[in-house]
Amino acid sequence: MDTVVSGIRSTGNLHLGNYFGALRNFIDMQYKNRCFFFIADYHSLTTHPDPSKLHGNVKNVLTEYLGAGLDPEQSAIYVQSDVPEVTELYLLLNMHAYIGELQRTASFKDKIRKQADNVNAGLLTYPVLMAADILLHKADCVPVGKDQEQHLEMTRKYARRFNTIYGVEYFPESQPYKFSGELVKVPGLDGNGKMGKSEGNGIYLVDSDKDIRKKVMKALTDSGPTEPNMPMCEGVANLFTMLKIVSGQEVHDYFLEKYNDCSIRYGDLKKQLAEDMIKVIAPIRERILQIQSDDEYLRNVIRRGAEKARESASKTVKEVREIMGFKPF
Ligand code: TYM
Repeated sequence: MDTVVSGIRSTGNLHLGNYFGALRNFIDMQYKNRCFFFIADYHSLTTHPDPSKLHGNVKNVLTEYLGAGLDPEQSAIYVQSDVPEVTELYLLLNMHAYIGELQRTASFKDKIRKQADNVNAGLLTYPVLMAADILLHKADCVPVGKDQEQHLEMTRKYARRFNTIYGVEYFPESQPYKFSGELVKVPGLDGNGKMGKSEGNGIYLVDSDKDIRKKVMKALTDSGPTEPNMPMCEGVANLFTMLKIVSGQEVHDYFLEKYNDCSIRYGDLKKQLAEDMIKVIAPIRERILQIQSDDEYLRNVIRRGAEKARESASKTVKEVREIMGFKPF
């Protein structure tokens, strides 16, 4: 039985990228593993969210986790800030995280560009907090999308460094979970980059059928191939990537053949993609709507999750303190 840890920032509604990147493949596997799924509300602070929205954002991720099929009887589902042990481990790991390597992280460089007026220390040490989340439960395996690969490499680096410095075999080398041999990157609908919460290019788990159809039909394409086996523009390539993830290899190959012999009609491809997205999303959305007003149920889930997480976390922090030489008087 492996220990599995995964988190999602509470910065907006979950989209298909979050679902296929970090959740879907673990819905069944939660029954065979020791699983921790948390809502990364501390991580969301790097962008200075409005305090009046913070709690609502956390609640959204919680209901969407449950709607997607996480089972609170099996997995500990908790809010990061309900487990204060993570901040202590973060502080301790920070002492062995070097500024140079943090400044070279791709996500940090990206954020410096995107929020030049708010380059805070939390952004710089974001990967250390993430390593603390993972090592807090000594995770073997971390379901994440492709964009988190470098953060996972850093987590392993910090684990190895800790073990070497203190001469122990304490932290495991947590591996990203590769379901079909590769990490997933769900592209956006706007013809560039990945689907993201703040990019405005996503299909969300709470979207109505009508919205899904409308968004997919509007996705960027070109005027169609004019000769056999033409290279694809990014918008079209993205639709094919989504087709493979959502509709499966067979449907993908059917439309690819049509693209390659120039008989494709993008409208047909989009219709197929939208209907297959609806098949995934509609039951999840129904469950979200059912549970989102059941505050007592949500409170119980989150209380139980924090208990389970703190039990595991306090054991780790106690052991780490001992290894580092802290002693009671
Ligand atoms: P966040 O909130 O950006 O995304 C949550 C998870 O969804 C995945 N994901 C995607 N996967 C495929 N295609 C996409 N377009 C896409 N967009 C998002 C992300 O890879 C991620 O797995 N740093 C993390 C949150 C975090 C965390 C952790 C994750 C904090 N501590 C510990 C795992 C373990 C983040 O920003 O995720």
